[in-house]
Amino acid sequence: MAEDTAAATYGSYLKIDELLSLQRPRSAGPEHDEMLFIIIHQVYELWFKELLHELDRVALLFKGDEPHKAQHTLKRVLTILKVLVAQLDILETMTPLEFLSFRERLAAASGFQSDQFRQIEFLLGAKSDKAIARFPEGSRARAALHRRYGEPTLWDAFLQYLAREGYKVPAAHLTRDTSLPIEAAEDIQHILIDIYRNDSHNAELCERLVDLDEGIQEWRYRHVKMVERTIGMKQGTGGSSGAAYLIRTLARPVFPDLWEIRGQL
Ligand code: HEM
Repeated sequence: MAEDTAAATYGSYLKIDELLSLQRPRSAGPEHDEMLFIIIHQVYELWFKELLHELDRVALLFKGDEPHKAQHTLKRVLTILKVLVAQLDILETMTPLEFLSFRERLAAASGFQSDQFRQIEFLLGAKSDKAIARFPEGSRARAALHRRYGEPTLWDAFLQYLAREGYKVPAAHLTRDTSLPIEAAEDIQHILIDIYRNDSHNAELCERLVDLDEGIQEWRYRHVKMVERTIGMKQGTGGSSGAAYLIRTLARPVFPDLWEIRGQL
C-alpha cells in the first residue's frame, strides 16, 4: 500500500480543515444551540467508530485465547462508555425551548438512524433485520449492517473461548445461526455459575462483560431521561413514539445469562 511520505503537521495528519468544515447548521440565523447539537452527535459517531474498533479487537482476542488482553481492551471500552454517558450532561444544558428553536429543521433525522449504534447492538447480540431495512439499498450503512448481521457476536466469541477452556458448552450454542439475537439459556447459566464459584480468572472476565452491559443500559437510561426533559412524551423525529419507545428498550440486557445467574450465586 502506498504510504503518505509528505511531512505531517498537526493539521494535515488529523485533517483539521476537513473536520472543521463539517458542522453546517440548517436553521436560519443560525440558532445558537444548533452548533452544540451537531457537534455532540458528530463526537458520538466518532466514539461509536472507536467502540466498534475496540469491540472487534475484544472478539479477536477471545478467538486468539488471550483473555488478559481482552480484559484490558474491555476496560478501555468501559472508560469510553463513561465518557459517552457524561457527555449527555452537556446536551442537558439545552432547554426545551432552545431545542425547539431548530428542531423542525431536523425533519426525520434522529439517532434512531445511527447505523454505527445498530452495528454496536448487532456486535453485542441484539440482531434485527428490521434495523437493516431502514437504510437505503446500496448505502455504506446498509452494507456494514448486513455484514455484521451474519457475523458472530461478542457473546458467541466468548462461548467459543469457554469451550476451548474446557467448559462443556453445548454444540447447539457453538454452531448456532449467528444472525439470530442472543437469548437467555439455562445450560449456559449452569456453566457461568460454575465459573463464578470455581474459576476466578474467567469470573473476572464475566464481570467486565457485566460492566459493559450495564454501561450500555446506563447510556440508554440517561438518554431517555434527557429526551423526557427536552421533548416530554412527544413523538420522535425518527418516527417512533419517542420516550415511550425508548423506555421499552431499557429492560433488555445485552448478556441476559450473566444477569439471570446472580440470584443463584
Ligand atoms: C435533544 C437531544 C435528543 C433528543 C430530543 C433525542 C430524541 C430521541 C428520540 C425521541 C428517539 C426515539 C427514536 C425517534 O426519533 O423516534 C431517539 C433515539 C435515539 N437517539 Fe436520541 N435524542 C437526542 C440526542 C441524542 C444524542 C446526542 C445521541 C447520540 C448519538 C442520540 C442517539 C440516539 C440513538 C442511538 C437512538 C436509537 C435508540 C434505540 O433505538 O434504542 N440521541 N432519540
